[in-house]
Amino acid sequence: MKSPQIKTSLPGPLAKKMIKLDKSFVSPSYTRVYPLVVEKAKGLWVHDVDGNVFLDFTAGIATNSTGHCHPKVVKAIKSQADRLLHMSGTDFYYTPQIILAEKLAAMAPGRSAKRVYFGNSGAEAVEAAFKLARWHTKRELNIAFFGAFHGRTMGALSLTASKTVQKKNYNPLVPGITHIPYAYCYRCPYNLTYPQCGLHCVHWVEDTLFRTTVPPEEVAAIFVEPIQGEGGYIVPPPGFHKELYKIAKKYGILYVADEVQSGMGRTGKMFAMEHFGVTADIMALAKGIASGMPLGAMIAKTKIMNWEAGSHASTFGGNPLSCQAAMATIELLENNLMKNAEKQGTRLSNGLVELQKTFECMGDVRGKGLMVAVELVKNRETKEPATDMRPRIIKRAFEKGLLLLGCGENSVRFCPALTVKPGEVDTCLSIFEEALKEVAG
Ligand SMILES: Cc1ncc(COP(=O)(O)O)c(C=O)c1O
Repeated sequence: MKSPQIKTSLPGPLAKKMIKLDKSFVSPSYTRVYPLVVEKAKGLWVHDVDGNVFLDFTAGIATNSTGHCHPKVVKAIKSQADRLLHMSGTDFYYTPQIILAEKLAAMAPGRSAKRVYFGNSGAEAVEAAFKLARWHTKRELNIAFFGAFHGRTMGALSLTASKTVQKKNYNPLVPGITHIPYAYCYRCPYNLTYPQCGLHCVHWVEDTLFRTTVPPEEVAAIFVEPIQGEGGYIVPPPGFHKELYKIAKKYGILYVADEVQSGMGRTGKMFAMEHFGVTADIMALAKGIASGMPLGAMIAKTKIMNWEAGSHASTFGGNPLSCQAAMATIELLENNLMKNAEKQGTRLSNGLVELQKTFECMGDVRGKGLMVAVELVKNRETKEPATDMRPRIIKRAFEKGLLLLGCGENSVRFCPALTVKPGEVDTCLSIFEEALKEVAG
């Protein structure tokens, strides 16, 4: 496939029918950005129920890391399905879970021994990290960041500070969490400029927060995304994690990296924290780990994962099908997909930077590997967010056969499968350019 094929008006007749049915029976809490009803997908190409074909630069929210239905992943799932669907790894042993744990523990950065807890989603991986941090340290307080998205279960939601709609009517949440500004250099919360700022946002934690409201010896963990995902694909400056980690260690605070979106090769390294030279104490993984099969993993240093039998578990966590999908996924990532993510990510970023020369509304182009975003502004000088432009650009791209998503308040994200080919990157860039032209002029 070289280009999208749009044969009907969108949504087409069958899609319309399904959306009508969905409106009656499916939870209204979901936020569908455009009327896409998927029938099947292969690689980066998604077919809707009316036979329209789209180029997918969303990968099911950064999840189909090996592309839709990669033959090796499908084969691994099918062959496991013939042997065992479920037994519950919390009460019984089965080989795929144990082998995957061994593999993940070996892959996780740092020399210390590690152990792995399995859940079904990103929220569950974060929830497990949240509980383990409390269990291990016996401390009640935690620190997280404005703009962070850690999931929607009550614990993970308490750490989240992305959009109020996600929290509205759910209070009281888990107490003891202090949110602090992230290193969003394009819009520095302290109005400073890197590197002259001397990483003020990090030192503020020790110099102000720990001296005024949060006793550091009561803090269990700092929860941080190596690159903020839903918050806008925000890449912190070099030194941010290193300095913050140093402060955490000084006070016996655990450093928890939420790699749910940034992990599994997407940024060109297996885990995004590797770009910053920090080894987290606990890591949360999901999304790309099993190419779309539900799986979450929380990896912790063995000396930290010292909770007792019965203290946490999940019936479905580490399901044999998901574990086999993860093993096949990891093999593909290690073989060449991670390298491809770096290469095609560079092609994509360079292409966007080129477009930035023409389109004033492209305020910032940022990211690492295939975790790339464009922040839209009304004016480059004032950086006034072009919040209204984003949905119009995404809608036009959809109508032209390109699937995109937003992140942050006014950014468009590009997070295709790591199998993306140069031609697919170029097609994405040319459709995005057309959509920009039509919306922004
Ligand atoms: C960084 C991060 N953590 C956690 C989650 C929650 O994952 P899930 O939706 O699988 O619960 C997400 C989802 O977008 C995420 O981006």
